[in-house]
Amino acid sequence: MVPKRPLIEIPESSYVVQITDDGSRTLIDPASEVAFHSGSGALAETRHVYLKNSGVSERLACGKPTSVLEIGLGTGLGMLLTVEEAVGGSAPLEYHAIEIDWLPIEVLQHLRLQTVLGRPAIVDSYFTWRAGLGLMPTRGRHVWRFNEGTSVCIHHHDAREFEFRDDEKFDAIYFDPFAPNVNHELWTDAFLSRMHSTLRVGGHLVTYCVNRRVKDSLVACGFEVKCLPGPLAGKREVMRATRRQ
Ligand SMILES: C[S@@+](CC[C@H](N)C(=O)[O-])C[C@H]1O[C@@H](n2cnc3c(N)ncnc32)[C@H](O)[C@@H]1O
Repeated sequence: MVPKRPLIEIPESSYVVQITDDGSRTLIDPASEVAFHSGSGALAETRHVYLKNSGVSERLACGKPTSVLEIGLGTGLGMLLTVEEAVGGSAPLEYHAIEIDWLPIEVLQHLRLQTVLGRPAIVDSYFTWRAGLGLMPTRGRHVWRFNEGTSVCIHHHDAREFEFRDDEKFDAIYFDPFAPNVNHELWTDAFLSRMHSTLRVGGHLVTYCVNRRVKDSLVACGFEVKCLPGPLAGKREVMRATRRQ
């Protein structure tokens, strides 16, 4: 049986806040029940599936320069936690996130992200910058720097339009669109193959999805695929796909 989790309405938004089982908040569309994170813990899922399984946490903790591409910025939770770890490890971070439907501060502030991060000043700085872009930022690239070593570029457009430069390769990809039945266009062989070519050799693409068809596609695109245990009290398995050559 699916547990009934507390919901909080957001004035003038089609989304509602859901309190997930670890106390952190996510967004859910009540009409379709499509959620931005797992109900069993938004924070636990983000830390485990993305920061830990991709190797990004480990790199940042020892000060290694790291580049990350996120497909689906969503609430910004994955991005903000990664910036926090980069600051903690004094590691240079270049973070790129693609988002078609960039959420405004009026919605994000209901997530209380400041209570999730050990360094709430990071959230405050991001919110101030994001608010300065207005409700509907123009399409294209927008760059926010928390400090000299930490750069975050938001590509505000459809991920299928993202131009991958040959010299722009990432150490990790947080692959976090909605599920294949919702965001079919981003789980195609063609798009996954573009993900493969934009990773550095040895880099990891990580995702919550362990769907058989997605696994087969990743293998066909040249990834070495491994199912890993999911977060505590969350999904049984999640996925890591590695570029070997
Ligand atoms: C599961 S949520 C991402 C959650 C996010 N990683 C976080 O930490 O909150 C999926 C996101 O993908 C975005 N998205 C869906 N289709 C897209 C597309 N074609 N191009 C770019 N972004 C897309 C959605 O707007 C949504 O914000």
